[in-house]
Amino acid sequence: MERMRRLRSSAALRGMVRENHVRTDELIYPIFVMEGENICCPVDAMPGICQYSLDRLPTELDRVIEVGIKSVLLFGIPLHKDEVGSGAYDENGIVQNAIRFIKSNKKYRDLIVIADVCLCEYTSHGHCGLIQNGIILNDETLPLLAKTAVSYARAGADIVAPSDMMDKRVEAIRNALDSNGLVSIPIMAYSAKFASAFYGPFREAAHSAPGFGDRKTYQMDPANGREALREVEEDILEGADFIIAKPAMAYMDIIQAIHTNYNIPIVAYNVSGEYSMIKAAALNGWIDEKKIVMELLTGLKRAGAKMIITYHALDAAKWIQEEEK
Ligand code: PBG
Repeated sequence: MERMRRLRSSAALRGMVRENHVRTDELIYPIFVMEGENICCPVDAMPGICQYSLDRLPTELDRVIEVGIKSVLLFGIPLHKDEVGSGAYDENGIVQNAIRFIKSNKKYRDLIVIADVCLCEYTSHGHCGLIQNGIILNDETLPLLAKTAVSYARAGADIVAPSDMMDKRVEAIRNALDSNGLVSIPIMAYSAKFASAFYGPFREAAHSAPGFGDRKTYQMDPANGREALREVEEDILEGADFIIAKPAMAYMDIIQAIHTNYNIPIVAYNVSGEYSMIKAAALNGWIDEKKIVMELLTGLKRAGAKMIITYHALDAAKWIQEEEK
């Protein structure tokens, strides 16, 4: 007789038949770098997460190295913003400087540095593209995104990750990288990126809330799963090397559908609002943070994610290290 409990009778047996594991080298840790000096500013809605100026960045990078995390995702917060987001493609911009800082330091140089490519942190209106008469322009924005990506790659970024959701931006970035001799820089495309309320805390952290309206004319409608596959297909055809699905928790069906349909590494972005909810409940003593986080990350792996971008990365890596001891 079949008895499903047979393989659950001991920890060793359960370990042997376990189908999915969260591995430290598959976790990507987001870091907010800010122009200025001596800044280590906690983000209110994201306990444990801070904005760092470059002089204070080593504290955070040391923690990253210490727990064995191999990859970081950089977001920049500039002092000055303008209509055209020029801080994003300024050779001396905050992210360019942060990348050079990391790559010029022997201790940190081997980290895989992923640079988020978007204009919203750099535009005075907070939108991800150029604006004319209240409309977010698509094709006119592409050269600026391409310029930003090239400038990050030249500064030493290992991967560029466009998160703007303009049509054809992967193609524009691929062409620009290639024609600048940067053929081996991969593109990690935010392909299935939904217009989500789960980004709320991030916008506080990155000072990137839209000054008017919302992002619904470029980010996807949360109700649409089939459309996400068209976005993914487009980006693969345009030259994406990885596909990001975002947010993660309320969108596991999207991760699974991409995994079933395409043979490309999938990255789940466990976003700021998801982090805040878990942190808030944990700080209230309502849930067991470690168990909840590991269950969530394991669930994302089971859904089909190869890698996970998560603000929990340092904690998770520490917990994984402890388990292995
Ligand atoms: C920039 C960008 C956003 C996030 C990543 N890149 C915010 C947005 O689209 O408004 C959100 C990440 C998070 O919530 O953790 N376009």
